[in-house]
Amino acid sequence: MPTAKLILDGKEYEFPVVVGTEHEVGIDIAQLRAKTGAITLDPGYGNTGSCQSAITFIDGERGILRYRGYPIEEIADKAAFSEVCYLLIYGHLPNQKEQEEWRRQLTTNSFIHEDMLKFFEGFPTNAHPMAILSAMVTSLSAYYPDTGNEDDANHNIIRLLAKAKTIAAFSYKKHVGEPMIYPRTDLSYAANILRMLFATPAEHYDVPEVAENALNLLLNLHADHEQNCSTSAVRMVGSSRANLFASVGAGICGLWGPLHGGANQEVLEMLEMIQKDNCDYKKYVKMAKDKASGFRLMGFGHRVYKNFDPRAKLLKKAADEVLSQLGVNDPLLDIAKSLEEIALHDDFFVQRKLYPNVDFYSGIIYRALGIPTDMFTVMFALGRLPGWIAQWKEMRDDPSTRIHRPRQIYIGECERHYVPIEKRGAHRPNEPRTEGAATLRAVAQQS
Ligand code: ACO
Repeated sequence: MPTAKLILDGKEYEFPVVVGTEHEVGIDIAQLRAKTGAITLDPGYGNTGSCQSAITFIDGERGILRYRGYPIEEIADKAAFSEVCYLLIYGHLPNQKEQEEWRRQLTTNSFIHEDMLKFFEGFPTNAHPMAILSAMVTSLSAYYPDTGNEDDANHNIIRLLAKAKTIAAFSYKKHVGEPMIYPRTDLSYAANILRMLFATPAEHYDVPEVAENALNLLLNLHADHEQNCSTSAVRMVGSSRANLFASVGAGICGLWGPLHGGANQEVLEMLEMIQKDNCDYKKYVKMAKDKASGFRLMGFGHRVYKNFDPRAKLLKKAADEVLSQLGVNDPLLDIAKSLEEIALHDDFFVQRKLYPNVDFYSGIIYRALGIPTDMFTVMFALGRLPGWIAQWKEMRDDPSTRIHRPRQIYIGECERHYVPIEKRGAHRPNEPRTEGAATLRAVAQQS
C-alpha cells in the first residue's frame, strides 16, 4: 500500500495514500493532528477531499464528466431526467418496471399540501424565486418529518424531487400574478415544469416537444457535479444529521451566489449589457482582466475544469439547434459566441485556462424557452436536486461519516485583559498590538 511521508520540525511521519477507481490519489491525513499536532490550511478547499464518493467522476484536465460511470455525452440527451435521478440516487439505471414505478411515484407526489399555498401569499410579488424555493423546500420538513425509518427517508426523497418543481412553478406564477397550474400525472418531469410555468386556466396548452427535450437536456447536464459549493453545503449541514429538506435548503442557498449557480442569471445580464453597449466586447474583456474593476466574465472559469467544461460544449451545440427549431433568432447567442472567441484567444484567459462553463450558454436556451432571467438559477436547482439527494444519502448511509467540522489557524489577538471603559485610550488600528500579529509578520518575512 502506498504511503506519503511528511517531515515537520525534522521529524518524519507516514500517512496512508488512498487511490480511487480512476487512479485519483489522496493522502489520508485523518491522523495528522493526532500524530503531529498540526493541521492543514487549504482556503477554498482546492486540495482537500472531503469524502470518498461513488456518484460522479470529473477529470477537469481532460474535460471528463461521468455520472455513476456513464459519460455525460452518452446520457445527456438520451435519458429522461427521471432516469438520471434514479441512477444518481440508487446507483444503477432503472429497468422498465423500476422506471414505471419511479415515474408513477414522482408524479403522484407532485402536489403540495394545500396549506403550503398560503406561504406563497406571504412573499412580496417581486421576491426572488430562489428565496421562495429555499424557504419552501426547508418548510417541507414541517410536513414530512425525518423519522429515521428507511421507508420514510425514501418517501421524502421522492416527495422532494416531485414537489420542488411544483414549488418552483408556483413561485413564478406568484411573481407574474397568474393562477397556479397544478401538475399532471401523465407528463414527463420536464414537460410538467413547462406546463406549470406557461399554461393558464383560460387556454389549452401543449408543451412543444422541442422545449421538453431541451429542458430535459438542461436538467440532465446539471444533475450532479461532485463536491461543489452547494453540494458541500448539503453534506456539511447533513453531517449534523439535519433532515433532507433542511440540508437541501442549504444547498439551494449555496447555489444562489453569482460565483456558483447564480452565474447563469449574471451571464444573461452581462450579455444584455454588452448588447446595449454596442457590442463593445473589448471593453468587457479588458474590464474582466483588470482585477480592480471587480468585473469578471460571468460563465467563464471553473475551479475544476482547466479545459472545456463538457457541459458547456453540449449546451453550445444545443443552443444552435434549439433556437433554430423554435424559430428564435436571439442576438445574445451571437454576442456570447463572439465573446467566447475573443476570450479564448486572449493571453489572460489562455494562461489561466479559463473556458466557458455550464452557465455560459444555458441562459440563452432558457430564454428561448420563455423562462425569465430570475428563474434561471431555480431551473439549475431543479436539475441539481438528484445530485444533492444522492450525496446526502451516500453520506447518511456511510457509517464512517463524522460531523463536518474544519479547523482554523487563529490569527487574532493573544490573550488580553478587560479594561474598564473610563481607562481605555484611543484605539490605534495600525499599532502592532499583539505577540500573535508580530509572530505572523515574522513568519511571513522568513518565507
Ligand atoms: N473572469 C476573469 N478572470 C477570471 C475569471 C473570470 N470569469 N475566473 C477566474 N479568473 C481569474 C482570477 O482573477 C484569477 O486570476 P489570478 O490568478 O491572476 O489571480 C484566476 O483566474 C483564478 O481564479 P480564481 O478566482 O482563483 O479561481 P477559483 O477556482 O477560485 O474560482 C470561479 C472559480 C468562481 C468559477 C471563477 O472562475 C469565477 O468567478 N467565474 C465567474 C463566475 C462563474 O461563471 N461561476 C459559475 C461557475 S460553474 C458553477 O458553479 C455551476
